[in-house]
Amino acid sequence: MTRSFLLVLLGVGTVLLFAPQASAQGSNIFEWNFQERGDAICTNLATGVTIDNHPPYAMNVAGFSESDRNIIAYDYNDIYALGFEKYAPGAFYLSIYKWYPSNNTAGSVIFRAKGITTSTVDEGATLSILSNGSLDLKDSAGNLVWSTGTGSAGATRMEFNMDDGNIILYHSTGAIVWESRLNNGLD
Ligand SMILES: *[C@@H]1O[C@H](CO)[C@@H](O)[C@H](O)[C@H]1NC(C)=O
Ligand SMILES: *[C@@H]1O[C@H](CO)[C@@H](O)[C@H](O)[C@H]1NC(C)=O
Repeated sequence: MTRSFLLVLLGVGTVLLFAPQASAQGSNIFEWNFQERGDAICTNLATGVTIDNHPPYAMNVAGFSESDRNIIAYDYNDIYALGFEKYAPGAFYLSIYKWYPSNNTAGSVIFRAKGITTSTVDEGATLSILSNGSLDLKDSAGNLVWSTGTGSAGATRMEFNMDDGNIILYHSTGAIVWESRLNNGLD
């Protein structure tokens, strides 16, 4: 059965609601084509996440904010979300975690991005989904904290499978370039 998904933007003030659309893949997968989309910057704000250059389809700006998680993308079938996880005041991990839209609460974390010197970022930090196929996490000062390191690997497509919480970057040949479950900084 085709399931639909939502991508959430927790915007500053305005609330726009688009109807959820059925996913073309027939499964619960958010897909991103790096070249078609160009660079997209997801910014972690107190009020939630804003995304520059977001796709025009299947996007949502939710009319709620969850105090401990600023969500970048989620599935509304009570499965997984990608977002900034508030770990301490002013300290957030880039994480994948269980998400329950029915009551706007988060469950267990299954992935954290692990940086070289530090893994948490502050308010104003960004996750860049880059057209060269890399995902880069930067703090508000622009310092690179974590990256998939795939900017030269020929990744053309990203899939976030919200049934199992895995993000996979694919080469145009279909080969897997990177996946979150094999690069998990969660100890
Ligand atoms: C939210 O809903 C989920 C799924 O029904 C449930 O497992 C979880 O315990 C609920 N959390 C709270 C805080 O109500
Ligand atoms: C990928 O693009 C970003 C943003 O333009 C750039 O900072 C980064 O160096 C690029 N990566 C590679 C490997 O070229």
